[in-house]
Amino acid sequence: MADDKYLVYHGLMLPKIVHSEESLKHFETFEFRDDDVLALTYPKSGTTWMQEILPLLMNGGDTSPVKTVPNWDRVPWLEELRAAEVLSSMPSPRIMVSHMPYHLMPKSLFSSKAKVIYVTRNPKDVLVSSFHFHKMASFLDDPGTFDEFLDKFLEGEVMFGKWTDHVKSWQKTYMEDRIFHVTYEEMLKDLKGVLSRMSRFLGKDLSDEILEQVASHCSFKSMKDNAMSNYSLVPQDIMDNTKSPFMRKGIAGDWKKHFNPEQEAKFTDAMKREMRDNCNKITWDE
Ligand code: PPS
Repeated sequence: MADDKYLVYHGLMLPKIVHSEESLKHFETFEFRDDDVLALTYPKSGTTWMQEILPLLMNGGDTSPVKTVPNWDRVPWLEELRAAEVLSSMPSPRIMVSHMPYHLMPKSLFSSKAKVIYVTRNPKDVLVSSFHFHKMASFLDDPGTFDEFLDKFLEGEVMFGKWTDHVKSWQKTYMEDRIFHVTYEEMLKDLKGVLSRMSRFLGKDLSDEILEQVASHCSFKSMKDNAMSNYSLVPQDIMDNTKSPFMRKGIAGDWKKHFNPEQEAKFTDAMKREMRDNCNKITWDE
């Protein structure tokens, strides 16, 4: 359950360090504009990657924003403390991210023409990434053992609740052609191909050469070296990159090094049970 590190919002645990009653009021009453672009993720599914990709695609590959502005100010979280200040002075088209489920989105999203990109990642790798993140982020609960954390994850006793609820909420929307679904694994396999489809969705016609440059700039290695994206600017007592770097591995299938056969069976059973109507959408090769 939530403790002094979290506030509870519609049953979801949100870290107090970046959320408050006020930031959530701003979130609820936020007025979307037709040209806004919003990336949606369950935590540890590719948020930081989208905070790098979207400014590049929206600005014809210009790297100055991603080299000079930290990701939380360049593409703010809509529900977090910095959003009101950052978005009030951000020129259109604005780019933002959010970890919120569909049913909690501000009403204005549905009456606007704003576009949404939803990124899904293999939940086993999400769990592993989150486990390591809980070790390095002092504003989150200690994860305990991997076995204990796996249970918490399956019960939704982690920030932003159950992975299954989040993913399901964004699979059935009324957004039709205003939502673009992509997986973290697709981006790993063929980033340039995804960028090409994403840029068309965003109404941007980028040359092959620019797409190549964006893909290269958004590689794991390049982002790991970018101080504006790797969280090295955050004080060590809040995020300790020496315990586990934020840009940790950036691969698919790391779960195989963490799960034992019993844990794998338990996790897969729970996923199948909760996703039984959506099974075709949760298969991963690795
Ligand atoms: S957060 O805390 O919700 O904002 O985290 P999020 O950014 O969603 O997820 C962090 C994981 O994404 C990996 N990452 C990348 N992987 C591949 N390529 C690129 N460019 C990239 N950028 C971020 C990051 O390493 C975390 O995954 P793990 O598995 O922990 O390495």
